[in-house]
Amino acid sequence: MEKQNLFIAFEGLDGSGKSTQVKMLTDRLVQSGHKVYATFEPTDSRIGSLIRDIFNHRTEGDQRVIAALFVADRLNHLLDRQDGILKKLEDGYTVITDRYYFSSYAYHSVYIDMDWVIKANALSAVILRPDLNIYIDILPEESMERINKGRNTKEMYETLENLINVREKYLEAFRLLQHEEKVFITDGNRPPEHIGEEIWSEIADMVVKKKP
Ligand code: ADP
Ligand code: TYD
Repeated sequence: MEKQNLFIAFEGLDGSGKSTQVKMLTDRLVQSGHKVYATFEPTDSRIGSLIRDIFNHRTEGDQRVIAALFVADRLNHLLDRQDGILKKLEDGYTVITDRYYFSSYAYHSVYIDMDWVIKANALSAVILRPDLNIYIDILPEESMERINKGRNTKEMYETLENLINVREKYLEAFRLLQHEEKVFITDGNRPPEHIGEEIWSEIADMVVKKKP
């Protein structure tokens, strides 16, 4: 299948503003006449809810098992016949996802060799690489502050020590894959509208170019 529409992945630490920017970009694309499908990982499939149960401490899971569940969740996210990403692209939607495989590279390589995580996700990368990965960069301290403001329960990865490692791993993965992947890093420590403008100017050309 030749891919006609853009596929954009948002990446960043918890609370970096991904959902906010996914929404802003979606609205802007819709206003410009595009059909947009906004989606996220972990998904709301049965595999995704198993992952969330582990994150919320309802059930236990070894880090290697969690990493493997994300591999399965992502493949299902791509390939589901009814509302998988490939199907949506085929139906003419621009697809924007809140997290994709760079989240796996960053979050799991704190515990497991990054090379393994990249290899385990190789099938997804072959099936569909994002036209653009957008990394919203905030410091781990800011991430913790935003998480603490929003709620009083903490998920598995939401400790300052872990988020410091995750940010390092994100930057390491971007360096490692600089020839394979298109990555745009934006400073998330500014008002949402400024970030949205910067993202829009980064993708505006791609959107126009892709239009028939
Ligand atoms: P994520 O999806 O990455 O977890 P959200 O978009 O849900 O992030 O934002 C997390 C919290 O931070 C929310 O309370 C949101 O209102 C706030 N927020 C989002 N973007 C910014 C920003 N640029 N500056 C300050 N706070 C922000
Ligand atoms: P998410 O619901 O996007 O949380 P937030 O809105 O706070 O960013 O993601 C939940 C958690 O899942 C988040 O801590 C990152 C983690 N995660 C992984 O560990 N591996 C993955 O492959 C993905 C997609 C997410």
